[in-house]
This record gives sequence, C-alpha cells and structure tokens, in this order.
Amino acid sequence: MICLGVETSCDETALALVSGGRLLAERIASQGELHALFGGVVPELASREHLRKASALCSGLLDDAGIAWQAIDAVAVARGPGLLGSLLVGLNLAKGLALGLGADFVGVNHLHAHLMAAGLEREIHFPALGLLISGGHTHLYRMESPVRFHLLGRTLDDAAGEALDKAAKLVNLPYPGGKYIDQLGQGRAPETGLFPRPYTANKNLDFSFSGFKTSVAKYVAAHPELRLPVMPQGVFAADDGLAHFCSSINHAVADTLRIKTQRALEGQSGLRALVVAGGVAANSVVRRMMAELAESYSVECIIPGLGLCTDNGAMIAYLGERLVVEGYRHGLDLEAIPRGQAVPNDYLS
Ligand code: KG4
Ligand code: ZN
Repeated sequence: MICLGVETSCDETALALVSGGRLLAERIASQGELHALFGGVVPELASREHLRKASALCSGLLDDAGIAWQAIDAVAVARGPGLLGSLLVGLNLAKGLALGLGADFVGVNHLHAHLMAAGLEREIHFPALGLLISGGHTHLYRMESPVRFHLLGRTLDDAAGEALDKAAKLVNLPYPGGKYIDQLGQGRAPETGLFPRPYTANKNLDFSFSGFKTSVAKYVAAHPELRLPVMPQGVFAADDGLAHFCSSINHAVADTLRIKTQRALEGQSGLRALVVAGGVAANSVVRRMMAELAESYSVECIIPGLGLCTDNGAMIAYLGERLVVEGYRHGLDLEAIPRGQAVPNDYLS
C-alpha cells in the first residue's frame, strides 16, 4: 500500500508518501520566516500560504518518488487539532485527491501522529507512556496501541513550547524561540534554582506554565541588559548573561516535564517504552533528561530524529497507513477540529 500524508495544521505545508511503514518521499514548505516577522503564526497568512504551496508540493512529491498518481492507495490528512483555516486547505486537497483517485481516505489526529512518528525509525512497543510537547500542547498519554490513546494529563494553559517561545521573546530572540534558548544555553551550566518548577506541588499529571512566564518576565524586567537591542538574524552567539539565562530557563522547563513524566511512570503499570514527541522533543536537555529517566525505570526511551519532532507529513502518512490497514476510514464529509477541541474517534464502521 502507498499512503499519501497531508499536514497543514499550523505553519508547515508538508506532504509525504509512506509504504509498509517506510518513508518513500517527503516535501515540506516552512512558513517560519514569514511568521517570524510578526512574532507568531498569523492564521490568515498561514492558510493562504498552504493554498499557494500545497498542489505544487504534491506534484513534486510524486516526481521525487517516481510514482504515478494512480499508485496512491490511501490519502491521510491531519484533521486537527490545529488552525481551522489551515486545516481546511489540507482537508480539501486530501478529499479531492481521494475522490479523484478512488483512494481510501482517513483523517488523522495530529497529536497521535506526533507520538507515532518514531515508528518510522524503530518499532514502538506498547503499552507506552507518550509525552507530547509542542508549541500548542503538553499532553501525557498512555498509548495502548497505535490507535488507542488515553489522556492522562494536559496543560491547563500555556504549552511547554509556548513557555520557551515567550521567554525567548522577552529577550528579543526570533520566533519560534525554543530552539534559540536550546542552542544559546548549550555548554553552559544552568542555575537550577533560578526559575520555578511550575504546578508540580500537587499529585496530578497536568501542567501549567502561565505562572512560569510571569516569573521569567519579572526576572527580565529586573535584568534589562538581557534584552537584545536588535533581534538577531542567522547564526549568532550569546554573551555570558544570556547564555546563563537560556540554560537556566531550559533546565527549569525540562525538569518540570521530567517531574510529571516520572510521576506518570510511577503510576502506570506494565509500560514498555517512554515516547517523547513534538517540537520540544528536539530540545537537547529534554532529550537527555528523558533518556536518563527512561533508563532509571527500565523502559525503552523512544524520541524520533529532529526532522520527525517538528510538524511533518511523514507522521501523518505513517499513522494514516496503519489506520487504513486496521480498517479505519472516514467519509468525505470529515470535519476539521480546531485547537482546544478533542478529536473524536468517529471512523466509519
Ligand atoms: O510540534 P511543533 O513543530 O508545532 C506545533 O504543533 O506546535 O512544535 C513547535 C514548538 C515551538 O514552540 C518551538 O519553539 C519548539 O517546538 N521547538 C523547540 C526546539 N525546536 C523546536 N523547543 C526547544 N528546543 C528546541 N530545540
Ligand atoms: Zn505539531
């Protein structure tokens, strides 16, 4: 089977072809530079860019793979959660292709696809604990199978990526700032007590990063020299103060994720793996802490390569193919699910 995956839930227009769990080809157009000008994703611009790029990317993808349109057996699309206008562009492209080609059609939960992405690189053993950390989500799941996920905890306000991006913005680093905080703090020991571990003095598995943002804002207000006078472009180095700030922020966010993940590992029985996914899973401190944590609980640590952490089409094609193989499909009346709403299990029976 050849499955085409379409991802347009935020600011990446990404398409990929997967066959038998293997990636055949992928194309991605990032809108990062466009939205960086505004310090965040502008939804209307994002959907227009998807519309401008998606069809050409799709033709190019088939050329890369050296296959004809008719070779596509199934079309999978990220149906949410995401920006509604952006999702609709991908959904309509995917529906048109499925209809025109007579291919199977399935909508994929973008969050589940992130957690399953590592399956392209190695086998995921279930049940697994899944930590999904992106710009919009911080979710802990018990993953029973590729299609059965139980939500154990979630952020009550800001996501981990959002906390890092907002901290970066306070010191005038480009958007999205998570990767700059990571890069600029590398090689510098953190001051581990400088920032709090928000919302950990409880017994639950939820997260809350809004108070963290306030404490970072207060710190920057007291240390105005940290703020760069001009937003840097391209490669740049941090001075001592900024490196110390970035390393300490990174440590506090990663350690907060570690505390709740450890709590989940203790509370769940029979786990075989810890899967960490989403854009923040690209973070070097998070990767190290999660690997150490998994080792201490004797479960396998599964974190995909960097290209599979941020939004991509391969994860949609991969999970889509697994769904279709197991008999899950959607009709062409499938609806997009905006951010903040749960994605239903409304497959055709
Ligand atoms: O999964 P993703 O690409 O998009 C969403 O669905 O949100 O995640 C984007 C998030 C942003 O907040 C970005 O700053 C963060 O991932 N990110 C990182 C790193 N690379 C991307 N955060 C920390 N360290 C990184 N290396
Ligand atoms: Zn994502």
